Amino acid sequence: MIDFKNVSKEYPPSIAKESKVAIHDINFSVNPGEFVILCGRSGAGKTTILKLISCEEKPTTGDVFFNEINTRDVNKSEAYKIRQKIGFVFQDFKLLGYKTVYENVAYALEAFNFNSKLVRDEVMQVLELVGLEGKADRLPKELSGGEKQRTSIARALIHRPEIILADEPTGNLDPYHSRDIAKMLLKINDTGSTVILSTHSKDIVNSLKRRVITLEDGRIIRDEEEGVFSL
Ligand SMILES: Nc1ncnc2c1ncn2[C@@H]1O[C@H](COP(=O)(O)OP(=O)(O)OP(=O)(O)O)[C@@H](O)[C@H]1O
Ligand SMILES: [Mg+2]
Repeated sequence: MIDFKNVSKEYPPSIAKESKVAIHDINFSVNPGEFVILCGRSGAGKTTILKLISCEEKPTTGDVFFNEINTRDVNKSEAYKIRQKIGFVFQDFKLLGYKTVYENVAYALEAFNFNSKLVRDEVMQVLELVGLEGKADRLPKELSGGEKQRTSIARALIHRPEIILADEPTGNLDPYHSRDIAKMLLKINDTGSTVILSTHSKDIVNSLKRRVITLEDGRIIRDEEEGVFSL
């Protein structure tokens, strides 16, 4: 479902920065239903790869395919359609502080104009999946870090995405909550969603026992089934 063919990405120079080749000649594919870990140090190119998948960035050379669509050719509305097939999970949660857990998740359905009973059923179903059905009325500030990330996973799942892109979702969590979130992503993968998880956590990589693509300075240095942390 995702195909990178000889992809390089160079960010143009700005006042603050010289031009930067973030990704060098990368090749890999992700099949539907796979769980893939992108592992690499800070600056290795993990976020750039996720942005190339979500059409936030386009490759400088090479091609990125999403369900056989070349992202180079997509216009704004086609890019929007691709993004609707993706659930995003971020390191800093990106929850709306003045909305409850329920509202943060329901908000993501607003564009669909569903009736309120359907919205309620769908939201409660995903909150149950992430174990937050008892905390629907809490505000983000009344949650632990792990619960905040569970809320953002629920929000990512609410429109039934084909693929979850999780960019260092455990970066702000302690080891206990990190493992909890990693297990949650495995559970979601078991229900059929493809998952791409970026991380530089040895603990997470070694506990998941899934495919690991290791990046160093924008290059893939390893791509292994049931990989282990090796940086
Ligand atoms: N918008 C941008 N403009 C210029 N350079 C950029 C931009 N975004 C990223 N870079 C550079 O590209 C390289 C790869 O960045 P990227 O964010 O993909 O790394 P990362 O592996 O996600 O790092 P981290 O673990 O710190 O999030 C870095 O050297 C970074 O400084
Ligand atoms: Mg990053």
